Amino acid sequence: MKQLRIVVSSTRPGRIGPKIAEWVAAQVPASEWEVGLLDLSSLPFFDEEDMPRNGNYAKPHTKEWASKVFESDAIVIVTPQYNRSFPAPIKNAIDYLFAEWDAKPIALVGYGWNGATDATADLAKVLGHVKADVVGSTGLVFTQDVSPEGALDVTPERQAELARLLESLATKVEEPVTATV
Ligand SMILES: Cc1cc2nc3c(=O)[nH]c(=O)nc-3n(C[C@H](O)[C@H](O)[C@H](O)COP(=O)(O)O)c2cc1C
Repeated sequence: MKQLRIVVSSTRPGRIGPKIAEWVAAQVPASEWEVGLLDLSSLPFFDEEDMPRNGNYAKPHTKEWASKVFESDAIVIVTPQYNRSFPAPIKNAIDYLFAEWDAKPIALVGYGWNGATDATADLAKVLGHVKADVVGSTGLVFTQDVSPEGALDVTPERQAELARLLESLATKVEEPVTATV
């Protein structure tokens, strides 16, 4: 089964990120994907001595984070917009690694007053730098798709956008061919 991981980019107490992530998880076809949530709350501020592009990770939390990203076939990053961009914990999480992002199929789901379009655009730029394969983004708009408190009533347009993103991720992930004897 293909492994899809949903990353929650915000870490503050009372955040609505997990509610958005749960909604995303509920839209994922269970026949196609095994889904898990990745929370960045316990990842400390970047503290590796060597450059991530050398892959010479020393800290247990770096190795654990690297394994989680490496083992996922595709990722959905759920991000709010903070001051016209994405919040710091997701930048920190990206900066920790390098090779693990290479060609990783990633879809972006923003949420905010304008659908977090600045946050997802900035995130796409950063992920492009580490050579991730960003298939696209959608953005939940406050009061139209989700309340600022995280009560979800997503419009059909946004639901369709997420469905298309999930299809794009699926097409990027080839099932391993099992040899028959
Ligand atoms: C520091 C900060 C900056 C914010 N800046 C923006 C912004 O630029 N645009 C926007 O639409 N919402 C902004 N918001 C509102 C957030 O989109 C909203 O609080 C959202 O619930 C945050 O996600 P979270 O609950 O997962 O932390 C900001 C919130 C915080 C805490």
